[in-house]
Amino acid sequence: MRVLGIETSCDETSAAVVEGAGSDVSLRSLVILSQDAHRVFGGVVPEIASRAHLTALVPVVERALADAGTSPGALDAVAVTYAPGLVGALLVGLGFGKALAWANRIGAVGVHHMEGHLFATALEHPDARPPFTALLVSGGHTMLLDVEDWGRYRLLGATRDDAAGEAFDKVAKLLGLPYPGGPHIERLAMGQDTAPNRFRFTRPMLRSNQRPGDAEYYDVSFSGLKTAVLTTVRASDDLERDRADIARGFQDALIDTLVEKTARAVAAYQRTRVVLGGGVACNKMLVAAMRDRLAPRGAAIYAPSPRLATDNAAMIARAGLFHAERGDFSPLDLDAAASAPLPGLIET
Ligand code: KG4
Ligand code: ZN
Repeated sequence: MRVLGIETSCDETSAAVVEGAGSDVSLRSLVILSQDAHRVFGGVVPEIASRAHLTALVPVVERALADAGTSPGALDAVAVTYAPGLVGALLVGLGFGKALAWANRIGAVGVHHMEGHLFATALEHPDARPPFTALLVSGGHTMLLDVEDWGRYRLLGATRDDAAGEAFDKVAKLLGLPYPGGPHIERLAMGQDTAPNRFRFTRPMLRSNQRPGDAEYYDVSFSGLKTAVLTTVRASDDLERDRADIARGFQDALIDTLVEKTARAVAAYQRTRVVLGGGVACNKMLVAAMRDRLAPRGAAIYAPSPRLATDNAAMIARAGLFHAERGDFSPLDLDAAASAPLPGLIET
């Protein structure tokens, strides 16, 4: 099966072609156009994002098809993100994707963006297959899942407030770093490797007396950590001197929390694989901390390369192929939604 994927949920216009069957699926092409205009505003401006998708989408799709040496007539399905995301941005990709499928008399598959993130790593690591524990950490979402099989997901925990990437971006702003802040914080924090850190922040939502069944056992929360950073920044008499140490202190607290919650899920479901996804999975110190903690317990850690960790259409095409193989197509009146539950949720 050959599937075109389209992703326009936020500020990346992306198209990709995947081909294969079952677990043997390969990436034939991937084009990602990142919108730079938002940088000056310190965050994504929805109206600008929608309009930029409108001008970029046709050439991006044409390039992805050409790179894969294929054409619309040779596709078996079009997979497109329908939720969650910015509705105006989603509508551009969804309207285009459905029209392309209809014109070529092939099926359209609406893909949930977070299910796409779940599939991204499998494109690079054949061993990143269910069952596994998944930690999805992006700019908009933080989800801890037990993936019993493709299409069968237990949602164990989520963020109560800010997503992990959002916390990175907001703390970066407090420290006077550019948007998006994750890579800048990581770079500063990494340089502080050997120095004993002067700033230790409380690990949010992490207490040893939490037990399975407690609402807080798997959930995370980062707004308190962000406030603690704000207080520390305000108290600093020399931010130039303290910036990197604060970045390191923040990142350590966030990573410790994510690693501990993931370790709890691995133990509870006795999984031997952990799959990371979303933009924050680019963070090398997060991946290393996961390995340090979980490899001794017999769990292998799989993280996507940066271009498949951040938003891209390859993961949408891959998830779409899974659904297309099962005949799970979407009606042409499928609508875009700012939020929607992950499909395939089963009881914890
Ligand atoms: O998955 P993604 O591309 O977009 C969403 O679906 O939201 O994630 C973007 C997020 C941003 O918040 C960005 O700061 C963060 O991923 N990010 C990082 C790193 N690279 C990107 N966070 C921490 N460390 C990084 N190296
Ligand atoms: Zn994403």
